[in-house]
Amino acid sequence: MENTVIISNELFKNLIGAASLAASADNMQPWEFKKHNHSIEVFMSNSRKLPTDVSDMFSWVSIGAAIQNIIEKASLEGLATNVKYQESSATITFSDGIDKDSLSPWIDKRTTNRSDYDDKPLDESTLSELSSSVHDMHAGVHWVAGKENLKAITEMDASLSFIRLDHEPFHKELFDIIRLSEEELEEKRFGLSPKVLGMPPEAAPLLQLLKSRAFDENINPLAMANGLASKLQEAGAICIISSKNSNPAGYMEAGRAMEKLWLFATSKGLSLHPYGALPQYLTKFEKEPHTFPEKYHEILREQKSKFYTLFSELKEEYPAILLRVGKPKDQTPKNDIRIGLKKIIRE
Ligand SMILES: Cc1cc2nc3c(=O)[nH]c(=O)nc-3n(C[C@H](O)[C@H](O)[C@H](O)COP(=O)(O)O)c2cc1C
Repeated sequence: MENTVIISNELFKNLIGAASLAASADNMQPWEFKKHNHSIEVFMSNSRKLPTDVSDMFSWVSIGAAIQNIIEKASLEGLATNVKYQESSATITFSDGIDKDSLSPWIDKRTTNRSDYDDKPLDESTLSELSSSVHDMHAGVHWVAGKENLKAITEMDASLSFIRLDHEPFHKELFDIIRLSEEELEEKRFGLSPKVLGMPPEAAPLLQLLKSRAFDENINPLAMANGLASKLQEAGAICIISSKNSNPAGYMEAGRAMEKLWLFATSKGLSLHPYGALPQYLTKFEKEPHTFPEKYHEILREQKSKFYTLFSELKEEYPAILLRVGKPKDQTPKNDIRIGLKKIIRE
């Protein structure tokens, strides 16, 4: 391209700094960036992907979110972008001369808000404004509203979150990324802390017990799953972002749509909270049924059938992420734990 921009070290650092603030499943930040003269290549980090993630779908969604932040930041600098997807990476090139609104000012304000939301339904015009904010993306945006439908989704999420907490490999993966001490959090700088999950520091011993699967009749996988899912019922709406293709490019596009919609929602004073269990386990049951013990198959078949009855239009697409959307009752502190830039640069 004639007006392709040369990437200086300073520009590269600015852009990947913005990328690193993107949402990622379990705050794994599964991205790495390589600077070329005229482009930035984005890869998946093999050491920070989730071991049970089906086809690395959540890593690709997260990488898509990071790519979108690069695009927004570049746009603020007056640069247009072009993204090309390869089998296991994406390449972004930049050119001069763009006159476009950028959502970049919202990058460092966007956060996962796990607090309670107002349960008043968001009106049609707000939902259509949110959908329009990602009209240029190759991804689907589907809304669920109304008490009955929210209740149905809440039950589906609870059933699948139960499997996440009950099935040993999934449970282990979840607790492996929860940082039980400040020291561990500081050392790793990826993963989740009790604080960002909305728990007080005193909850650490309880989490330690749960990590060792010391369940009792009060704290058991079903009770926990029901508790976690219950907030979905208080949403202003639920959004499902779907991918048009079940491959890395499709999931990166869905991740870009998720991040862009999130930045736009943030600019409107709305909060978002992703729920991963439903898209993850429905997809995993589809692609790798053998990875689930027989005892979960009935639950999975039942939830799959309920899901596609509610979302018949999704039969031709692939659910990538489910988002609780609404007006927050409380602001939430920004989860600013991120790995230093040096560790996300590929030489
Ligand atoms: C694909 C994906 C799945 C996620 N799933 C969940 C989830 O199931 N529950 C949850 O509380 N947060 C979930 N999150 C939110 C991440 O934990 C959050 O983005 C990460 O910790 C970084 O924090 P931030 O969004 O506040 O910057 C998910 C995020 C992504 C991108």
